[in-house]
Amino acid sequence: MCGIVGYIGKQDTTKFLLDGLKELEYRGYDSAGIALLNDEKIDVFKALGKLKNLSEKVESAKLSKYEIGIGHTRWATHGKPTELNAHPHLGEYSYVVHNGIIENYKELKEELIKAGHNFVSQTDTEVIVHLFENFQNKLNDTTEAFKNTITKLEGAFSILLISKADPSKIFFFKHGSPLIIAKGNEKGEVLFSSSDAPLIGLSNEVVYLEDGVGGIASADSIEFFSDDYSWSTLPSSKQFAQKDGFRFFMEKEIYEQSSVVSDCMLGRIQDNEISFDEIDESILEGIKEIKICACGTSYHAGLTSSYLFERLSKVKCSIEVASEFRYKEPLLTKDTLFIVISQSGETADTLEALKMAKKAGLKSLVICNVDNSSMTRTADYTILTRAGIEKGVASTKAFSTQATVLWMLALYFAKINDSISSEKLQKELHALREVPKSLIIDDKIHEKTKRLSKRYLHGHGFFFIGRDVFFPLALEGALKLKEISYLHAEGYPSGEMKHGPIALADPELFTIALMPQNLLYDKIKSNVEELSARDSTICSISPLEFELSDDFIKTQKTDHYMLEFFEMLVVLQLFSMEISIRLGNDVDMPRNLAKSVTVE
Ligand code: F6R
Repeated sequence: MCGIVGYIGKQDTTKFLLDGLKELEYRGYDSAGIALLNDEKIDVFKALGKLKNLSEKVESAKLSKYEIGIGHTRWATHGKPTELNAHPHLGEYSYVVHNGIIENYKELKEELIKAGHNFVSQTDTEVIVHLFENFQNKLNDTTEAFKNTITKLEGAFSILLISKADPSKIFFFKHGSPLIIAKGNEKGEVLFSSSDAPLIGLSNEVVYLEDGVGGIASADSIEFFSDDYSWSTLPSSKQFAQKDGFRFFMEKEIYEQSSVVSDCMLGRIQDNEISFDEIDESILEGIKEIKICACGTSYHAGLTSSYLFERLSKVKCSIEVASEFRYKEPLLTKDTLFIVISQSGETADTLEALKMAKKAGLKSLVICNVDNSSMTRTADYTILTRAGIEKGVASTKAFSTQATVLWMLALYFAKINDSISSEKLQKELHALREVPKSLIIDDKIHEKTKRLSKRYLHGHGFFFIGRDVFFPLALEGALKLKEISYLHAEGYPSGEMKHGPIALADPELFTIALMPQNLLYDKIKSNVEELSARDSTICSISPLEFELSDDFIKTQKTDHYMLEFFEMLVVLQLFSMEISIRLGNDVDMPRNLAKSVTVE
């Protein structure tokens, strides 16, 4: 998830680009860059880290006057966060900024290298500009060259491209990631941005581009390649715009899950296997077991995967909370693959656990959202979750992308270990492809959680219960509620109730029961019956109606328990958020918590 801006006009191009990128910095900030074009030349500035580094560079340069420019703030997906990998990317005479992931970049890169193109970065994006120039060199027609380029690309790509071959234009295309084109308030001004915020006050008329729509803009005209667009009016509140119209970043991030999980899977699911650019089969050489270490929500993703690694990959798998692992004098053997999971890559306990494993000579892998973080720099291997920056303190999309990566990894290991039949693998891959759909939020479900939330503001506590992978999901549901509502909630394996916790059951104890149709339904049903018999108030989440529930949230019928898992995850996140809102709490910045826990 990156941010892009573009400008055509006679006002201060550099200022629009830098101000715009500042507004988009929330989309990622590991590097930023701008390319400025006037008739004779293109000037480019790039800097690592926060935008102020780029602004300082630009301020200290003697700038000419430019009437065209493009800019980008990056969240690394392919290639480390370095200046060379920062956008805009250059061919011989053109520059491009890109938001998304080019799935077929490896094949394209090979072809282009054979055709004599030189690549300087590790990114997928660089193929776009070389592809354009390859066509332009043959056709000598920038419009055709751009249209041909688009048809060759697979994956997600919202792009702006400028070229000395046609120096009065910006070529644009939207597919997957958001892109807006706007008529500026001044005559001849055209503006581009990944979201509303940079445009507010500078334009009234915008097109929120649909997937597959592109065109060419200049000071004189905006030409679209198809009729599939319409102009609309821009909202006037900046704060509202940064959250894309949602009330809280947490809400925006819950709604974003479907698209970031698609990004997370891009290029990683092939016809009948999983592949990761970041690792190869040798990762399992000499490995007999997996140990996972993480904290909080990331621990819950890890616990979920421990079921999948044993069930699908047939590898022994254990998991520990990182803060416990550190001081227990663990026995570490070199036939163990050590996996750490972390959104931030900076959590002190997880980082220390990773260092201990490295010191003991174990192979290590981090599943992380932030490239170039302490953990990605320490581990032998990194797989990025590609969730984009997560602003809400309560983690949401980090969890869904971690769970997706870990499920893919379990299938990747299963293939290496030959522990899965091709029929079963096909079924799993089919289900995986459906995950983004299961994360799309049905208005009715959100409405239902909103309505139900008013009945769950009191009581003496919540039990979230589930079995198998729905046990870690229950833990995650309870953690979400605790974090933002400050109500007492516990997650339990539902079979554990009768071993003690059921003593708490009475009408003021709320049980949130995760009752998937495709996994141990009858078993969990009898556990819930036991609670109901003790008068606990039951809210069941299930595709199947359950006569003993006091409240019921109906999920869709599917044929795979993991699809039920993801749909229920969203229900739990919305439920906590709506309770927190009713209680008047600060949803995005709950009391006593911080986004990144870099102290022990
Ligand atoms: C919960 C939450 C925390 C983090 C935990 C680990 O919503 O955000 O529990 O999951 O602090 O953080 P990372 O994943 O950055 O290591």
